Amino acid sequence: MKTILITGGAGFIGSHVVRLFVNKYPDYKIVNLDKLTYAGNLANLKDVEKKPNYEFIKGDIVDSEFILKCFEEKKFDGVIHLAAESHVDRSISNPIEFVNTNVIGTVNLLNAARYLWKDPVDKRFYHISTDEVYGSLGEEGIFTEDTRYDPHSPYSASKASSDHFVRAYQDTYNLPIVISNCSNNYGSYQFPEKLIPLFIHNIKNRKPLPVYGKGENVRDWLWVDDHAAAIDVIFHRGKSGETYNIGGFNEWKNIDLIRLICRVMDSRLGRPAGESEKLITYVKDRAGHDLRYAIDASKIKNELGWKPSLQFEEGIEKTIDWYLENEEWLNNVTSGDYKKYYEEQYIKR
Ligand code: NAD
Ligand code: TYD
Repeated sequence: MKTILITGGAGFIGSHVVRLFVNKYPDYKIVNLDKLTYAGNLANLKDVEKKPNYEFIKGDIVDSEFILKCFEEKKFDGVIHLAAESHVDRSISNPIEFVNTNVIGTVNLLNAARYLWKDPVDKRFYHISTDEVYGSLGEEGIFTEDTRYDPHSPYSASKASSDHFVRAYQDTYNLPIVISNCSNNYGSYQFPEKLIPLFIHNIKNRKPLPVYGKGENVRDWLWVDDHAAAIDVIFHRGKSGETYNIGGFNEWKNIDLIRLICRVMDSRLGRPAGESEKLITYVKDRAGHDLRYAIDASKIKNELGWKPSLQFEEGIEKTIDWYLENEEWLNNVTSGDYKKYYEEQYIKR
């Protein structure tokens, strides 16, 4: 029996990874360690919470003593590290939170693994990162695993820093590590601050859709369960010390994606065609807004046989249907401080 620590398992991607591992590997004990920030929600894991191979621990990765104690008690065989502050706009208003969780939190986990894994054979520290560490592309080009790091936002700078620490711990202490850098994810259980769930929520409530700048920025979108499947493959078969890029081969200009969401929402809500597009409101651009991200995911495809499974249009429809069917979830996460935060964000722009 292996004991695997998944950090940030109550968040968007983490909850999909926890669900996959708990169901697919009954002989693993999956320990989900999460602070339950505004972005973490145990309702994301209701269907697995009673499974015998699942355990939840509420805790903060910034607390080094607590992390060390967890490692001592649970004797983890592997770590899949997803816990992070993840939203670029929040990193612009409060960068220090990102340094604490993303950099110091990661180093605390690395230290605990280094102290406890005296014999690192069969151990693995898997760090989940983002393509945003590579910076911004122009009209041409694509990020490969060899692209130079060039982060622009406090979020991507903190993730770049944590990636460097993970590699440094391999080079300095022989810690068996692996890293993946993934493009933008979408799907169920994503907190409605990121573009896709925010716009679904706003259209439903006939609120303005704040498009940053001219809406010409490009993102490469990946279905979250395809990311979880890639994490499974890399955790089990990825080469120690390697980096793998994960992406959807699926670039969309923001405004085209927003129009697609508007069309599907009109049809699902029985509103006249064109109704939701009237909510589009161009607002002041995000500071340091990266123009384009695009991932070359051929290494993981060729070496590990992973590829995205879902067509984007189908994925968007499934995502919209999920948010419309899970009204209670959406109402819960948008109650309390949410309304105030978004009204302030919108007024600031
Ligand atoms: P998320 O914000 O939805 O979830 C983050 C989780 O981490 C939450 O459950 C939160 O409670 C927890 N957390 C935050 N601070 C913590 C702390 N100090 N201690 C313990 N737990 C803490 O994020 P997400 O979108 O699911 O992203 C997960 C990981 O994947 C992050 O590392 C992110 O950088 C990376 N990533 C995200 C995307 C994306 O499109 N969302 C793309 C590539 C990589
Ligand atoms: P986001 O979902 O925040 O992801 P990231 O910034 O990590 O790529 O944003 C996706 C794109 O959508 C990005 O180019 C910024 C843009 N955007 C808007 O135009 N309006 C919004 O309200 C948000 C949240 C994002």
